Amino acid sequence: MKIAVVGTGYVGLVTGACLSDLGNNVWCVDVNEEKINALKNGEIPIYEPGLEDLVMNNFRAGTLKFTTKIHQALADSDICFIAVGTPMGEDGSADLHYVLGVAESIGQYMDHHMYIIDKSTVPVGTAQKVRAKVQEELDKRGSSLTFDVISNPEFLKEGTAISDCQRPDRIVIGTDNDNAAKVMKELYLPLVRNNENIIFMDIASAEMTKYTANAMLATKISFMNEISNICERVGADVNKVRLGIGSDKRIGYSFIYPGCGYGGSCFPKDVQALIKTSKDFGYTTKILNAVEEVNFEQKHVIPRKVVERFGEDLTGKTFAIWGLAFKPDTDDMRQAAAITIINELTKRGAKVKAYDPKAEKEARVCYLKDNKNVEYCDSKYTVLVDADAMILVTEWKEFRQPDFIEIKKRLKNPVIFDGRNQFDAHSLSDKGFEYYQIGVSSKLNK
Ligand code: UDX
Repeated sequence: MKIAVVGTGYVGLVTGACLSDLGNNVWCVDVNEEKINALKNGEIPIYEPGLEDLVMNNFRAGTLKFTTKIHQALADSDICFIAVGTPMGEDGSADLHYVLGVAESIGQYMDHHMYIIDKSTVPVGTAQKVRAKVQEELDKRGSSLTFDVISNPEFLKEGTAISDCQRPDRIVIGTDNDNAAKVMKELYLPLVRNNENIIFMDIASAEMTKYTANAMLATKISFMNEISNICERVGADVNKVRLGIGSDKRIGYSFIYPGCGYGGSCFPKDVQALIKTSKDFGYTTKILNAVEEVNFEQKHVIPRKVVERFGEDLTGKTFAIWGLAFKPDTDDMRQAAAITIINELTKRGAKVKAYDPKAEKEARVCYLKDNKNVEYCDSKYTVLVDADAMILVTEWKEFRQPDFIEIKKRLKNPVIFDGRNQFDAHSLSDKGFEYYQIGVSSKLNK
């Protein structure tokens, strides 16, 4: 099949690479010339395991091509994915500026029938807006070309994006047209185990499905974080509670890990956008507001524990941070808990030393660029030298089983704050550490 994917961010690049790997001819389009030139030279703009090989193999094979010229891609495609960003606008709603910009270009340049697929996370009603925009441009040039708009939300996770795309739990297709449904089935059949994994529905329900999935997952996390805050106060251990409830098949083990608050490009933005959409339609959300509020506060739990241990004035203290990315296996720091934690500590006079296997550049050039009290180190052990305590923020694999003798040798005090509950409290206590976790009463840590 001949496909154009507009937007070479996370979703667009992964989708383009995976579809080209199946033998489709794919054009990846982006307005950013630097990015497109870099991709042509084999430089991948994001860190995502497996992506570089997938992109380069298919680029060399000629099934994956890059261009800044959307008309070139459209001329050679029957299907066009819109996979551009929908950043959070000032009022919390999804900013559709880029999506509608692509729709405008499609209307200006298409020269045959197109299947236009909304892959970006967009609020209910966007497909209609895309349709209207394309039609407006066709009308302007007196064209009678036809097209279909389809909603096909993406559920991939950073860090496992390739396998999520190649072996999706389900493909959701929102369409009001049998032909479009047939084409989508043909496109996706190689990726699903059987037809049942392709779920067809109306467009509004497909648009709503994406937000509901992310809001549900964010709710599970905030719920568990709230439980962890109760556990700490009543003398319980949330790690035990998690196992106790996860074993109930109706609840399950996934997404009930307490931590220092969810981050990333999706949960924070999508929960807010859903709150805003509901408001626009006259409904005031309650649960979703609480999900947001708990998450905001959860990012302050580690700084609060540090203050309880070291005092409100942290002048003269140094803290070693393990992990900056919002989760492991990515260099993405959007809405990462590390940002809040580090800024809260330095605000109180502390110095911070940070190590992350992949996200240092993001921190330096963007998310922590204004914070002059952060020093970056190149390994998990060097970052500890002369620090008053270590704070684990992102659960990278290399932090799972560290050498505690080496840690103790370097730290000024054997104190660990763990934002991801990675270690065994009793074993750390035996080794002489003071160990603070999320959701565990301090008397159970000894
Ligand atoms: C998410 C959705 O999972 C994905 O389906 C959607 O397409 C995009 O948004 P992503 O943002 O890549 O994916 O990361 P995810 O693995 O879902 O983690 C999001 C955040 O939640 C991270 O900060 C993570 O640390 C946190 N989290 C996750 C928890 O705190 N506890 C958990 O139990 C699970």
